Amino acid sequence: MTDRLSIRRCGIEDLKVLSDVSVTTFKDAFAAENTVEDMNDYLQKAFNRKQIEKELLHPHSVFYLAYYQNELAGYLKINFGPAQTDIRDDTSLELERIYILQAFQGRRLGPQLLEKAIEVARENKLKYIWLGVWEKNDRAIRVYSKRGFVKFKSHTFWLGQDKQTDDLMKLEL
Ligand SMILES: CC(C)(COP(=O)(O)OP(=O)(O)OC[C@H]1O[C@@H](n2cnc3c(N)ncnc32)[C@H](O)[C@@H]1OP(=O)(O)O)[C@@H](O)C(=O)NCCC(=O)NCCS
Repeated sequence: MTDRLSIRRCGIEDLKVLSDVSVTTFKDAFAAENTVEDMNDYLQKAFNRKQIEKELLHPHSVFYLAYYQNELAGYLKINFGPAQTDIRDDTSLELERIYILQAFQGRRLGPQLLEKAIEVARENKLKYIWLGVWEKNDRAIRVYSKRGFVKFKSHTFWLGQDKQTDDLMKLEL
């Protein structure tokens, strides 16, 4: 049986741990398939302390930290209404980031984080939840598809100078 994740909402006091886990998980997930320059450029822009602070304080974004047997195992970021990056629909929620630290992957913890986002969307009586995922991220796409997410659009994502394509997937609630 899968052990349960303990998931808690973040506050500004979590800034350092969130910045660190954001960089670590992004690097681990994508460094092998991207140039060092593109990665450094993106990490610097997306996850510097000031940027994460701004996102943490945004009234329409929420971060969660996830613990597995008292150890930090991953995090989640969701956006409501105007904080959403592509579709600024008041009836939807964007799951912007879902990351499990490498040491904890493959234990069905990611699906528990996904369930948390779905639960929050339901509590807020939203109609659907959507996310963007790199078209080559087969593992994540499989996790989302298994839970019923379907592709409805794609968009361009710049990782440094590299133009990439994200699939946008949604789950109707
Ligand atoms: C995608 C992610 C959230 C899934 O969480 P998870 O806890 O690993 O999910 P699961 O344990 O259900 O594993 C998902 C699948 O990946 C496979 N898997 C897990 N770890 C793996 C590894 N190290 N190498 C290859 N496959 C692996 C599992 O076998 C499973 O496949 P299956 O459903 O066909 O059996 C997590 O792997 C992750 O954070 N990845 C890196 C960051 C990322 O891609 N985030 C999503 C951005 S949109």
